[in-house]
Amino acid sequence: MTKHVAGKRPPLTERRAWKALATHHQHMRDVQLRQLFDADQKRGARLTLEAAGWYLDYSKNRVTDETLQLLLALAEECELPERIAAMFRGDKINVSEQRAALHVALRAPRGVRMRVDGVDIVPQVQATLERMAVFSEQVRSDVWRGANGKPIRTVVNIGLGGSDLGPLMAYEALRHYSRRDLNFRFVSNVDGTALTENLRDLDPGTTLFIVSSKTFTTLETMANADSARAWCQNALGGAAAIQRHFVAVSANSAAAEKFGIPAKNVFGFWDWVGGRYSMDSAIGLSSMLAIGPENFRALLAGFHAMDEHFRTAPTARNMPVLMGLLAIWYANFFKAQTAAILPYDEYLKYFPAYLQQLGMESNGKSVRLDGGPLTWATSPVIWGERGTNGQHSFYQLLHQGTQLVPCDFIGFGNSLNPLGNQHDLLMANMFAQSAALAFGRTAEEINTAGSPAGLAPYRICPGNRPSNTLLAERLTPETLGQLVALYEHSTFVQSVIWDINAFDQWGVELGKTLAQHAIAQLNAPPESAHGFDSSTWALIRRYQNFNRH
Ligand code: F6P
Repeated sequence: MTKHVAGKRPPLTERRAWKALATHHQHMRDVQLRQLFDADQKRGARLTLEAAGWYLDYSKNRVTDETLQLLLALAEECELPERIAAMFRGDKINVSEQRAALHVALRAPRGVRMRVDGVDIVPQVQATLERMAVFSEQVRSDVWRGANGKPIRTVVNIGLGGSDLGPLMAYEALRHYSRRDLNFRFVSNVDGTALTENLRDLDPGTTLFIVSSKTFTTLETMANADSARAWCQNALGGAAAIQRHFVAVSANSAAAEKFGIPAKNVFGFWDWVGGRYSMDSAIGLSSMLAIGPENFRALLAGFHAMDEHFRTAPTARNMPVLMGLLAIWYANFFKAQTAAILPYDEYLKYFPAYLQQLGMESNGKSVRLDGGPLTWATSPVIWGERGTNGQHSFYQLLHQGTQLVPCDFIGFGNSLNPLGNQHDLLMANMFAQSAALAFGRTAEEINTAGSPAGLAPYRICPGNRPSNTLLAERLTPETLGQLVALYEHSTFVQSVIWDINAFDQWGVELGKTLAQHAIAQLNAPPESAHGFDSSTWALIRRYQNFNRH
């Protein structure tokens, strides 16, 4: 047993509960879901949980009551309740940047107190929401006019990562609730095609740009913002055009004003809001413009409802805790390399992409909170696709591939666009897929069903492939907020068990630095070549030798 410095957390793999789980897994890895369901006719109803508008069926996981107890014991041994309390308390849990991670304050109702450095920040949050609401109503009621006196008809959000993926996902998810006479576009890639294709058919006089960037220094965002500004000024004239056609969302108001956007058109947020946790901050301005302030506040209420569940529910009946611990069970004991997000709702088609940044930029880490090395697996690769489309793309691998891929199925009781029996068809497919993954189909069953001789081996589905199923009554701003908060907190739970910092992202710095060097070299004369390896040099030379115009 390694001697531990007082206050230093023991390595995860040396924890008592971890070792008990490892022993338990030796047994569980051969236990079939068929056996577990045969042994307990009530399993499908018993291993479920309702919280903050969502129903979670976790019965199709490869767990027994003992597994769950051991996972909960691990959570206790990792001091999860204390770590949750520390987050809600505004402690500087983002230790490498010495910041709080208090995104729960973004949706705290008036009157709730949440402090950062001793200052209650909820009044600032509420004041920003008020400014957003006033602005949104001005645009939505045509009070806000462009430089030529025209009303706004298209909003273009220019941003990247958390300044794009959340707003984009929310806009698509809540289109049913959005103003259909307002168009929304999202430009993120520095590839000139992104901005060009999005501006091609627009009238500068009716276009509003939201430059969304926490730092207001991100290369791609600033390049697109500069080009958009030129497009706007060429069409509409000088500074006045910027005043009427650009607003900014940033934690760096000075940089936004230097760009030419006056302070009154800058909507701020704070360093204790991580980019991938910011869709419910002013970064959600495009969402509020689309669905209106009232629906945006319903979104926030949904977030808050799940926050309160997470903050107060005992770990054994805590939905984000259970989902986070199940993710640990597969990543660390079954060695699952990936995890699939499978929303059975067309409006949630960007939800997997959103969770990619949330999960992998939070937990794709390989050093512990204290900077020491870690020797256990952390975030799996998170991916996914909406159903039923995924069924005709990669479900073959899910059913008969050699990898274990734990799946999260997400569905709703009601469609927002009822069309005959098509919602029944959608949900029937979702239920069928989780059952097929869990229970498979044996050679005997195949032969009994009268399969042509010799085909059985190809048609066997091994089953025993775990999944969660999440159900809510219908997709609304509130249920979306609840769902996003569920995954935010599940991500945090995993980071606590892994003893890593979910709120920094030092890994993206190197690429940015090398890109700056490559940019400088792309237009440098060959004799000045320096600082890159032979492969990168050859690539740069080849690029330079193209007949570029
Ligand atoms: O990908 C790195 C990152 O810093 C993300 O964490 C962030 O969401 C994104 O870039 C954009 O950053 P900003 O909002 O500062 O432009």
